[in-house]
Amino acid sequence: MSRHHRIAAIPGDGIGKEVMPEALRTLEAAQRRFGFRLDVTPIAWASCDYHAQHGQMMPDDWKAQLQGQDAILFGAVGWPATVPDHVSLWGSLLKFRREFDQYINLRPVRLFEGVPCPLAGRKAGDIDYVVVRENTEGEYTNLGGVMYPGTEREIVIQETVMSRFGADRVLRYAYELARSRPRRHLTVATKSNGIAISMPWWDGRADAVGADFPEVTVDKQHIDILSARFVMQPGRFDVVVASNLFGDILSDLGPATTGTIGLAPSANLNPERRFPSLFEPVHGSAPDIYGRNIANPVAMVWSAALMLDFLGEREAHDAIVRAIEQVLREGPHTPDLGGQATTTSLGEALAQRVAG
Ligand code: NAI
Ligand code: MG
Repeated sequence: MSRHHRIAAIPGDGIGKEVMPEALRTLEAAQRRFGFRLDVTPIAWASCDYHAQHGQMMPDDWKAQLQGQDAILFGAVGWPATVPDHVSLWGSLLKFRREFDQYINLRPVRLFEGVPCPLAGRKAGDIDYVVVRENTEGEYTNLGGVMYPGTEREIVIQETVMSRFGADRVLRYAYELARSRPRRHLTVATKSNGIAISMPWWDGRADAVGADFPEVTVDKQHIDILSARFVMQPGRFDVVVASNLFGDILSDLGPATTGTIGLAPSANLNPERRFPSLFEPVHGSAPDIYGRNIANPVAMVWSAALMLDFLGEREAHDAIVRAIEQVLREGPHTPDLGGQATTTSLGEALAQRVAG
């Protein structure tokens, strides 16, 4: 694998513009220490500032501009004071996810030492799993409609679509991920008791794909009790795979149990690498704190580490995660964790530890 990677850096809006420089700072340090090379193309579009000047979120040739990149590092998009959220989101991020067929949405969930846990009595190590969400089909479709609107006979239908192609590829990814982790355990989110056509079929696909992974243990859990266990017994989980809707909910609930949203990273992957994959913090542009240099950069920096892992730079990924562990344990801390450090000083502390 080449150790020269081309990436597009898109800060977007609000605190995206404050945390992105800290991710780039850490990546600089990682390059120097581990000897790979990043060709970074900074991109100012996919932002509400661009929209103010051009009346759209991105240039018409956005796809051609990004197509040749190995990955996209993304901050956050949204500035509701000037552009409605559905316009900014559908005009940028959702186009990337769909047109680049980023069918895996990956969210690691981990409780770190030094971070207060909203669940009583949990310590670092008790929560450590990954949610794998199907990102292109399932419950989120535009198939359906309203009949007899505004009358007593009003009817609404919205279809769920699951394909063998779409289900198998996300299940296979989840099994492979589980196989690569020490516990080798996969939880399949289902609701085959209530959603009696598509979900038994989904469970069947999980069995069929699982035939190739005898070393992975599997349990299927209905989404309602599974959600309860994220709170009550988080230690049961290693890799969790879910349809688009269930995964959407689980991938917010999981990180919420581990402290501040300022820590949670995510990856939107096209594992075949036909298109660039996208790495971004879970949080948004946080207009309420923008401009004060107090946003926590850890989610952004961890997302950059996930990007390096995907690009084959495993050692650099591990070094960044270790730096995050150390800084969360020893400080400095940003205000969301009760400290007084700035975004910049936390970023510098992380980069320094990565530099070794
Ligand atoms: P948000 O995630 O931006 O903020 C929620 C709360 O968490 C705020 O109080 C904020 O100050 C805090 N917060 C978020 N990130 C933080 C960090 N790194 N450090 C410290 N505190 C942090 O969600 P909100 O307020 O619902 O949305 C604001 C804008 O962001 C909207 O335009 C929304 O559409 C957009 N958004 C974009 C996302 C994306 O780009 N993937 C995801 C979520 C929201
Ligand atoms: Mg969500």
